[in-house]
Amino acid sequence: MSRSPLVAVFLSLAAAGCAEDLTISAADHGRDLYNSKALSSSSLNNYTCANCHTLERSDGGLRYTGGPLAGSTLRSSLWGGQENDLLRSINACRSYFMVAPEPLKADDPDAEALYAFLKSLEPGEPEPIPFTVVRMIEPIARGDATAGALGYTSTCGYCHGTMHEGLGRLSERVPILPEDTIEEHINYTPRDLRLVFIEKVRHGLFYGYGGDMPPFSTEVLSDAELADILEALGIYGE
Ligand code: HEC
Ligand code: HEC
Repeated sequence: MSRSPLVAVFLSLAAAGCAEDLTISAADHGRDLYNSKALSSSSLNNYTCANCHTLERSDGGLRYTGGPLAGSTLRSSLWGGQENDLLRSINACRSYFMVAPEPLKADDPDAEALYAFLKSLEPGEPEPIPFTVVRMIEPIARGDATAGALGYTSTCGYCHGTMHEGLGRLSERVPILPEDTIEEHINYTPRDLRLVFIEKVRHGLFYGYGGDMPPFSTEVLSDAELADILEALGIYGE
């Protein structure tokens, strides 16, 4: 199994006879790393791990793109079936979203601490978390603005800040919605502008879009819920 280098390190700590002390302090350090920006040295990084993941599914009222991480140490398939290795999955997040220049190696103390922390959350959800990415971007039906205002807050606002003002956004690099995006695409027809929003939410930085926003799977956000958010943003497509 491809997570074995980390398992091996963990077991060798256990074999050294001081497993308990070491794992407790390593897990605590791992939790601090998880909640900090320290896992990427890039000055362009906007994120901590906790900006996109919960630990347990029920944590908080916000809707995150990344799956719950308790149990990720036991999963044989990760990243919607694209990965089978825990450290590579973490490095994918660090590289795509957190702009980290180098992958963490299994024997890096930060990787060991993060592993000890995630391990301490077992069993969690050991089954793979479905993550269906919409490839083909197509128009979607109109939605409900009242539901969308709530949807915006729980799904977009914790990164983009408040609608129209961007209060509380993660950084100045995160656009104020919808104004900054309308301005960026000033020559677009209303229909194409709506497609830009749909594409951004569904693809994030992938499929040639660029940037560092994560994609939303259909499990995390349905088309109907996305339509509600677009309605609240006033991106009607007509
Ligand atoms: C900008 C958002 C974002 C950030 C920041 C981020 N992730 Fe992720 N992560 C995702 C998305 C999206 C996926 C793919 C969906 C999924 O598998 O949960 C993912 C997948 C994963 C997976 C695979 C989970 C699984 O069961 O499929 C792990 C483990 C993981 N991330 C750990 C981390 C850690 C640790 C950090 C911090 C170093 C981090 N992520 C930072 C968004 C993010
Ligand atoms: C985890 C943080 C995060 C979340 C959650 C998030 N975004 Fe973003 N978004 C970003 C960042 C960072 C950028 C700027 C970099 C980029 O374009 O990828 C961005 C850019 C955008 C853009 C600009 C695209 C462009 O080309 O001008 C749009 C539109 C957008 N987001 C819509 C949304 C909507 C709608 C939601 C909620 C459904 C959402 N985002 C949720 C982080 C996030």
